[in-house]
Amino acid sequence: MNQAQLQQMAQVVLDQNWNGQFTKPAPSLYPHQWNWDAGFIAIGNAYDNFGRAMAEMRHLFSAQWKNGLVPQIVFGDDPQARYFPGPGFWQAHRSAQAPEHIQTSGITMPPVHGFVLWKMYEVAADKAQAKAFLKEMYPKVLALHRYLYDYRDPEEEGLVYIRHPWEGGTDNSPIWDRTLSRMQIDRDQLPAYERKDLQKPKAAEHRPTQEDYDRYVYLVDLFRQHDYDDQKIYEECPFLIQDPLFNGILSWSNEALIQIGSLIGEDITEPMQWHELTVWSMNEKLWDEDRGIYNAFDLRAGEIIPVHTSSGLIPLCGEVPTQEQAEAMLRTLESPAFGGKDSGILLCPTYSMEAKDINYKKYWRGPVWINLNWLLYHGLMRYDMTEMADRIRKHSLELLSRHGFYEYFDPRRPAEGEIGCGTDQFSWSAALCLDFLQGEMSG
Ligand code: SER
Repeated sequence: MNQAQLQQMAQVVLDQNWNGQFTKPAPSLYPHQWNWDAGFIAIGNAYDNFGRAMAEMRHLFSAQWKNGLVPQIVFGDDPQARYFPGPGFWQAHRSAQAPEHIQTSGITMPPVHGFVLWKMYEVAADKAQAKAFLKEMYPKVLALHRYLYDYRDPEEEGLVYIRHPWEGGTDNSPIWDRTLSRMQIDRDQLPAYERKDLQKPKAAEHRPTQEDYDRYVYLVDLFRQHDYDDQKIYEECPFLIQDPLFNGILSWSNEALIQIGSLIGEDITEPMQWHELTVWSMNEKLWDEDRGIYNAFDLRAGEIIPVHTSSGLIPLCGEVPTQEQAEAMLRTLESPAFGGKDSGILLCPTYSMEAKDINYKKYWRGPVWINLNWLLYHGLMRYDMTEMADRIRKHSLELLSRHGFYEYFDPRRPAEGEIGCGTDQFSWSAALCLDFLQGEMSG
């Protein structure tokens, strides 16, 4: 397939998943609007459909909570939508902070919006229109970051915690295993629920386990019992993790807020302070000098989580590491753990290949995800590591053009069984394909 055909097919996926208000991440598995999906999708639409990219972001932020939180899911009103947990389970209205006019979940997701807006501005054909849009959105994104620093950084370290695996975006990442295994769940005490994500053949094999889901549900139940009160949740929640993916993305978006604020003539003192503190603390607390990667930290247990996933490489995108640290990270990427040097593996597996329990087809426990590849690509480019960046872009395009716009991919060459896993027609795979293709065409 040539580039023009791939571009056209990616466009078709985005058009088909657009419902007039927002883009569904996938036609049936994910029938509502998801937070970081919306950001990646807006990047893909910014090239040829700037109006839709703006509408996507406006719809997401129309559901922003009064305290600044931008929810992980904004529920649409399609009566055919089959998804668990739906609004009736979340009961977000228990919080006085939740919006009244629209239904949402009660947690957030990685704060991609700052860099998404900056990227939209960079590619916009009509800069005046894009600048007006930045003016409209800047206070909203600022309010989100303020929420994160005010409510999710209790020790004022500049490191934000997540309180649910869904907030990290990487649901069943091995990073969470130990913390989740400490949670003693009594199934009889758990609210009754029925998963809706296991319709497709192999879904049970390729998606989180029942034990994982019990824990996801337990946490949601805890939050709603506390009416989504941040202080009470902080006191009670067994899952409080400072994740390098989340904080790396936050750094990039802080930096984007500084750029946007400067462009539109705002006082940028606050994002500058956030940025400096977050970068400093990530290097002080999360950097692993021996292994050349960032770790996560379990705030409840008070310990580093020494599990190596590609999330630990994402801080490159926010220019968190120094050049020297970034070079160590490149060596990590080139090592047998991540298969970067001629190992026949397509980059980049999400879990260290040296881990005994890597599973190349199971959601966030091994497969390649296009959004993480895209973040890594941009991170490497910031340090002029063009060879590795190009390899990641080429591998992403190879997977997409040969196998389709799947949700995640088995990186082995050759692999047994399906290479494209999860849902097909996955919106961010299509959107980021469009962005990768721009890079391909310009150089
Ligand atoms: N990935 C989650 C799901 O499977 C939502 O964030 O529902």
